[in-house]
Amino acid sequence: MSTADTQKALRATRAGPLKGAIRPPGDKSISHRALMLGALAVGETTIEGLLEGEDVLATAAAMRAVGATVARDDNNAGGAGGAGATWRVKGLGVGGLLEPEGVIDYGNAGTGVRLAIGIAGSHAFATTFTGDASLVKRPMGRVIEPLRRMGIQVLARSEDRLPLTIKGPAVLVPIEYKLAVASAQVKSAILFAGLNAAGITTIIEPVQSRDHTERMLTAFGATIESRPGEDGGRIIALEGRANLKPQSVAVPGDPSSAAFAIVAALIVEGSEIVVENMLLNPTRTGLIDTLLEMGGDIAVDNRRTVGGEEVGDVRVKASRLKGVAVPAARAPSMIDEYPILAVAAAFAEGDTFMEGIGELRVKESDRLAAVAAGLAANGVSAEEGPESLLVHGAAKVAGGAMVATLLDHRLAMSFLVLGLAAEKPVSVDDAAPIATSFPQFRAQMESLGAAFEDIKIG
Ligand code: S3P
Repeated sequence: MSTADTQKALRATRAGPLKGAIRPPGDKSISHRALMLGALAVGETTIEGLLEGEDVLATAAAMRAVGATVARDDNNAGGAGGAGATWRVKGLGVGGLLEPEGVIDYGNAGTGVRLAIGIAGSHAFATTFTGDASLVKRPMGRVIEPLRRMGIQVLARSEDRLPLTIKGPAVLVPIEYKLAVASAQVKSAILFAGLNAAGITTIIEPVQSRDHTERMLTAFGATIESRPGEDGGRIIALEGRANLKPQSVAVPGDPSSAAFAIVAALIVEGSEIVVENMLLNPTRTGLIDTLLEMGGDIAVDNRRTVGGEEVGDVRVKASRLKGVAVPAARAPSMIDEYPILAVAAAFAEGDTFMEGIGELRVKESDRLAAVAAGLAANGVSAEEGPESLLVHGAAKVAGGAMVATLLDHRLAMSFLVLGLAAEKPVSVDDAAPIATSFPQFRAQMESLGAAFEDIKIG
């Protein structure tokens, strides 16, 4: 958590063209899941390309706390592109984890803690979780409610918030559960708990959310079926008491981190960049679809399969963008990308209307309110609805403001990108949260030609 001492203000200034190639760090969603499934398999799982951001390191620590051996292989320091070292996880098997000695502090990591609650809750011991000032405000009821139906006891702070203590029953009951929100975190927490239930756990999701858990469970040897449900939704059925086999996992580049360089290259005049090895799973490419509709010059070369996922090299050239309407049904496939899409929309000509995005209010910050406020402070006209955002793009942005990042990495990165093309520099009051998901952000963006500078505030 950032305090006044660790807070790092950063300013972005209009830059010359961005040129060159970057390799984004490993996908955050896949990185969490690889460590967790490694802990639930009997034997040694190796992971290449793991994201070494604070959120994922919190999961490494959590898996150690419940008895797995998690080690980073220092003999393989990894490349400058952020490919990272080899991680080795020795797991204890489904149902074989051990009671942790102390409280598990998940820092800023919402995905990590929600998935870990599903895992710890399927074991008949007590685990207590907490987090930073952002995480303790976020709703946990969405995972707790289905887990309670499986027979898991939970004692949480008011409104089902952290800190909370969870304890699994001797025999876990499989459930059939219809998700109220399209949330891959909730789906995954239930599936992870269902691994240790005697019978079939079934999840009905209204709109398909990211499917890394299903893909990875299949790879680790679980019996899981995912079939189309009504109106574009999915029905997922998992056989419990699973016997997971250790795997070699290669983590593809994170499209949610790559998004910042992609939008920066679109809005900074004369830019041309390549983002290598980016995950192209269709449950994650909503931003690319939207930017193409806006007139973005984006092409994908060298499509290939890495670790059971499609990846490719994404070539981006500066483009004149136009405003579009982004349908609500697309939200799950670009849920983390709305702040940076709003930046692209500010530089587009005409209105961009994003609907069905109420979930943004319960991310690391209330991103709907924070994005609208940050845009307004920088001279961009934007209207915030209860579940929507309308950005009036004027092809140029005045800039000049300091934006509060509210312990939210994606707000920090989005507004720094805004500053790379705005008329006046844009500052963020705290860039420290960027390390939760993209520690190489500054270095990689500077290698492309971005201009950032540390500043003192107060
Ligand atoms: C994630 C799911 C999404 C996303 C988050 C990562 C995951 O959250 O915003 O960054 O890895 O399952 P929700 O499940 O709340 O939509």
